Amino acid sequence: MTTPLIIVNFKTYQGAQGLSAEKLAQTMESIDTNARLVAAVSALDISKVVDAAPDLEVWCQHLDPIGFGSNTGWLHPETAISRGAKGTLINHAEHKVSLEHVAMLLDQVPEDFEICACAADIDEAKSLAALVPNYVAVEPPELIGGDVSVTSADPQIVSDTASAVREASEEVMVLCGAGIKSGLDVSKAIELGVSGVLLASGVTKSSNPKEALEDLVSLL
Ligand code: G3P
Repeated sequence: MTTPLIIVNFKTYQGAQGLSAEKLAQTMESIDTNARLVAAVSALDISKVVDAAPDLEVWCQHLDPIGFGSNTGWLHPETAISRGAKGTLINHAEHKVSLEHVAMLLDQVPEDFEICACAADIDEAKSLAALVPNYVAVEPPELIGGDVSVTSADPQIVSDTASAVREASEEVMVLCGAGIKSGLDVSKAIELGVSGVLLASGVTKSSNPKEALEDLVSLL
């Protein structure tokens, strides 16, 4: 089995922006685990978070396939990379883009820059897998931010996405997300055939993020 990946999406949660983002990243960095932990932070916080937690892998939450030039307000991949980003989410349910956007971004970034494309369902996961990103993460939008983990509410979408993506490409790994909060949710996800999870509120809204993170990795 490959090292399980746990991506914590900081979104724009208050407990995960600015100074709080730096603190949360340091907490993630301090977790003793064999899992690979990634913080997907606001583009505004990348530099500061990378400086504050140099041993933690930091990703963006979104990037635009543009170069240097007149692109007001867009998120430029090369600058993100120069500021320490090692990967990005793309097409998150809260920031949808076209397939073309994803394809152009994949073309533009270096080989070792990882991309996790998010999908709302199996069909979207298959379309994204055909572009061969490093990861496809399936997240039913109605379960995002809720208390019930996708692994309990809809285990079949997790296992079916894992099989469908495997059929489309053996290179693409699958994650699942939405409502994931505990180590049990993470181990169920792995049992269902995915390589890790994408989560947010279980950590970013926790009154004790360290405890939440320790629980998430406890069964790995
Ligand atoms: O990107 C992760 C996300 O959309 C799931 O959010 O709060 O349900 O873990 P949450």
